[in-house]
Amino acid sequence: MKVKALYLLISLAKRGGIGKQVFITLRELGNELGVSPQTVLRWLEELADRGYILKQESRKGTLIEITDKGIKLLESLYEELSSALYSGVIVGEVVSGIGEGAYYVQQYAPLIKEYLGFDPYPGTLNVKVIFPKTIFDALCNSRPIIIPGFVKDGRTFGDVRAYRVKIDGIEGAIVIPSRTIHPPKIAEVIAPVNLRMVLNLKDGDRVRIEVI
Ligand code: CDP
Repeated sequence: MKVKALYLLISLAKRGGIGKQVFITLRELGNELGVSPQTVLRWLEELADRGYILKQESRKGTLIEITDKGIKLLESLYEELSSALYSGVIVGEVVSGIGEGAYYVQQYAPLIKEYLGFDPYPGTLNVKVIFPKTIFDALCNSRPIIIPGFVKDGRTFGDVRAYRVKIDGIEGAIVIPSRTIHPPKIAEVIAPVNLRMVLNLKDGDRVRIEVI
């Protein structure tokens, strides 16, 4: 079956074809998929022949419903895709921050040692996330280590979520303040070593981070 025919099945699901019949027009679907109405008709017939949809002509037009088999196909596609894409890999580009990473890492250093087991290099390597679209997609299957917040000299330092990672074989962690709601576009990586030096990284270089 053509990949685009699968897109047609997806489109039928988006149009409400799961659990009920929906009216469709070949022209609308064709415009959406960038093919002729005749091609849509051919793909609908193929989907019906394979048992993924039920197709019925009525006085008012064509009615479609996705069958249980069609729903199963969509679900397995979704699962396969998400396990292929969101298996804890982040691809990004090294960028420079505003130089405040060092200060924060120093404040948290004893707790990082206690909770993550290494003395952090004072700073964070900032990585602009290219893939996945939101970093939470790469992290959702991992359980963070919560580094508890504290008060020091009257200043409050909040909880931080740390995710263990490997970046080119070197172990470190991505750190995200717990009160962060929106997925950060920049991953902040701490490690026992200066990653720029050890991995010979400069701004704009691509890195692959593996969440472990
Ligand atoms: O905020 P900014 O990127 O200016 O730097 P920082 O967090 O104060 O860290 C100082 C420098 O060390 C930056 O160039 C970081 O990219 C780098 N760094 C590193 O290479 N490896 C680490 N484990 C931490 C920071």
